[in-house]
Amino acid sequence: MLDKFVDSMHNALMSHAQRVQILGNVCFVRAYAKINLTLDVTGRRADGYHELVTVMQTVDLHDTLCLTNTTDGRVWVECTRPELSNEENLAAQAARLLRERFSVSRGVLIELHKRIPVAAGLGGGSSDAAAVLLALQQWWRLPLSLADLSAMAATLGSDVPFFLTGGLALCEGRGERVTPLATLWPSSLRWLLLLKPAIGIATASVFGKLPASDYSDGSASRKLVEALQEGRLPQPEDFHNSLERGVLEQYPEVSRAATDLLQAGASLVRLSGSGPTLYAPFSNLSRAVRAREQLQASGYEIYLAHAIYPEGAESNV
Ligand code: C5P
Repeated sequence: MLDKFVDSMHNALMSHAQRVQILGNVCFVRAYAKINLTLDVTGRRADGYHELVTVMQTVDLHDTLCLTNTTDGRVWVECTRPELSNEENLAAQAARLLRERFSVSRGVLIELHKRIPVAAGLGGGSSDAAAVLLALQQWWRLPLSLADLSAMAATLGSDVPFFLTGGLALCEGRGERVTPLATLWPSSLRWLLLLKPAIGIATASVFGKLPASDYSDGSASRKLVEALQEGRLPQPEDFHNSLERGVLEQYPEVSRAATDLLQAGASLVRLSGSGPTLYAPFSNLSRAVRAREQLQASGYEIYLAHAIYPEGAESNV
């Protein structure tokens, strides 16, 4: 029944082909994590969400999803983390959205190899959902433009549209208005240590407690973008996150981890999204590895990562 879509397949997303691998009757897709280089909360909206200006970058830490068509019409997730194995997982919701929109009768089993820490500020759940949209768009040959997919993605979560393109992007509104950016990536940001303190934080609770005094005007994000586009290293204060002060104050585990990262040799430490994951850039691999070993020996969950761009995007690392 999907054959009628074959000829009208949209080309806009073909640069993601390397993320999606179709092997007979299964389809593998990678879902990359992100960090927030900035997160300016500029105000509260009438719909209860907050108005954001944020600069996000995908990194090579990723989940792997394997999709299988089923004949029973069910859509569900089987995950290496059993608490995520269910029908409500955002990845299953993404598949259901496409099934309903195109009246597809087949079901989908989504096997999810989870590597991105959960409730961590790294966008794992949102990225899984975007990966399912991209994979099914290609596999089922659905006539959807990036704008169509993006509108569907925004109904699943504010971050989901960003993950359709990934790379470096300025995101505004709830986070769903995405402007991809080409950049000269400074060498001092080449390696990224991602440290996940042993707690999970619900994004809604962080936004819910945010005082208006922590709002910012978006200038940090604009300055950071300007610096990156000119091939300069942004100033430390440009890596601003309006949520960071409150999270460090409310969760001593996170502020202790930030101190430990600095003691291990990091020169800049920032919160990603609503946390609790902290990131620290390094220009030098051996220094990053030494810091990682020291922090691992203290019992921290820590990842060595680097920025990653969609194939064909302009970048200069
Ligand atoms: O959009 P998403 O479901 O990922 O957002 C999770 C929660 O984070 C929202 O329910 C809301 O409480 C908060 N949020 C917000 N403003 C945003 C994005 C998220 O207040 N721009």
